[in-house]
Amino acid sequence: MPYADYKTFEKVLTRHADQPGSHTLDFYLGHGGYEGARKAVTQHTPDQIIDIVKASNLRGRGGAGFPCGLKWSFVPKGSAKPKYLVVNADESEPGTFKDRVLIERDPHAIIEGMLIAAYANGARISYIYIRGEFVKGYCRLVEAVKEAYQKGFLGQKIFGADFSLEVTVHRGAGAYICGEETGLLSSLEGQRGLPKIKPPFPAVEGLFRCPTVVNNVETIANLQHIILRGADWYRSIGPEKGPGPKLLCVSGHVNRPGTYEVPLGINLLDLIDDLAGGIWKGRKVKAVIPGGSSAKVLAAHELNLSMDFDTLAAAGTMLGSGGVIVMDETTDMVSALYNLMRFYHHESCGQCTPCREGTGWLEKIVGRIYHGRGRMEDLDLLLNICDQMVGKTICVLADAAAFPCESIVKKFRPEFEEMIRKGKGHERRVFPVAGGPLIQIGALSRHNQERREEQHPMKESALKRAPAPVGGLHD
Ligand SMILES: Cc1cc2nc3c(=O)[nH]c(=O)nc-3n(C[C@H](O)[C@H](O)[C@H](O)COP(=O)(O)O)c2cc1C
Ligand code: SF4
Repeated sequence: MPYADYKTFEKVLTRHADQPGSHTLDFYLGHGGYEGARKAVTQHTPDQIIDIVKASNLRGRGGAGFPCGLKWSFVPKGSAKPKYLVVNADESEPGTFKDRVLIERDPHAIIEGMLIAAYANGARISYIYIRGEFVKGYCRLVEAVKEAYQKGFLGQKIFGADFSLEVTVHRGAGAYICGEETGLLSSLEGQRGLPKIKPPFPAVEGLFRCPTVVNNVETIANLQHIILRGADWYRSIGPEKGPGPKLLCVSGHVNRPGTYEVPLGINLLDLIDDLAGGIWKGRKVKAVIPGGSSAKVLAAHELNLSMDFDTLAAAGTMLGSGGVIVMDETTDMVSALYNLMRFYHHESCGQCTPCREGTGWLEKIVGRIYHGRGRMEDLDLLLNICDQMVGKTICVLADAAAFPCESIVKKFRPEFEEMIRKGKGHERRVFPVAGGPLIQIGALSRHNQERREEQHPMKESALKRAPAPVGGLHD
């Protein structure tokens, strides 16, 4: 299959995102806003909407790439229980900052998508669960919801039809695990954000043990375009089995990091070398994590790939959350892995032994290699631990920690061996942390910065401090 043509591609999700006032209702209505939801509610039955979304082949943008229409079809039709819609705006995956663009710059597109999803699934109550550190995004969403209520797009008798929807914006408290859908629902219920064993899947038994559709922000933002322009149009963008526009966030050692809207199926090299301006300082690329920090790493010779769900899966990695983390030839892979392992150990909720202990062991062992106290047998030990973690836990956070570890150790083993041989006292390259180019990997340092915003939640001064990716779309 040829790579998707990103040069003639018409932007859909971010077409207005760099225009002033794009987050306001006036702007949104002036650019055709809420017409997709109006059409869905006044011209289609809920089943027809599900069929259209199924026919579009829209796949979830939250990480797993599950077919959206298929998920919706699991919601039991005859159930007397209330049904809920929950939008996952937790966006905590290191290297990922695409939902934030939509939340801050086009919040009405999310509300419009929610109207369509709620109508199709019979939900009358819905929540947006937003990452606690997204102060500006929270303010924008709350304002947008208020505007939508005032104009009658939320509440009772929407578009004059027998359809109502209530939306509540709920802030998380900064836990990565609350992005996992069942952990999110536990948190929304007021409990600790502990994931639950699936099945039952949330579509059958979710929030308050009622049928619940959980969708990612970007998934939801696609819906009005599918309704307005049709499933055939949508399927014509990129690979037919997983088509559509996609937000990819490029971070790390490139000249223009940022969020880029591209057609699925763009060549990864075009994304890095053209859109993101190539590797900085005239250096060469060493490694790329293509789908957020939970994806397996690709080495430099593996990058001639189509950025789509199936191609990346066939290449042994994943599109995941769309966070493309680029590392140049000077990157210390032991240090990069240590940084990631610290993150996953910190974020494990602790329910499952392989994850609670495994993430800790990975951190400890990679840490001792990093600090010059490694042993050669540690490398096989790391691979063995990864093997014991994958597929053996309640949620896939354990897999998410094991995948980067296993792939980095396997693909860059000589670098680890060299560091172990040199042992104590060898000269280490300094790994850039706060403000440095790998800040998206350095999620802990980013959290620190964003926690400072948390201390001054609603103040304008706090909003100004929000760290923003540069290049592509930026503040
Ligand atoms: C540890 C972990 C963290 C996750 N974080 C997020 C997140 O921040 N945002 C998100 O949309 N999905 C996240 N997911 C995926 C969700 O569980 C879920 O699959 C997704 O929200 C479904 O939406 P979609 O079908 O529209 O992709 C995470 C999964 C795991 C295992
Ligand atoms: S895999 Fe880890 S994060 Fe997920 S439920 Fe188990 S202990 Fe918690």
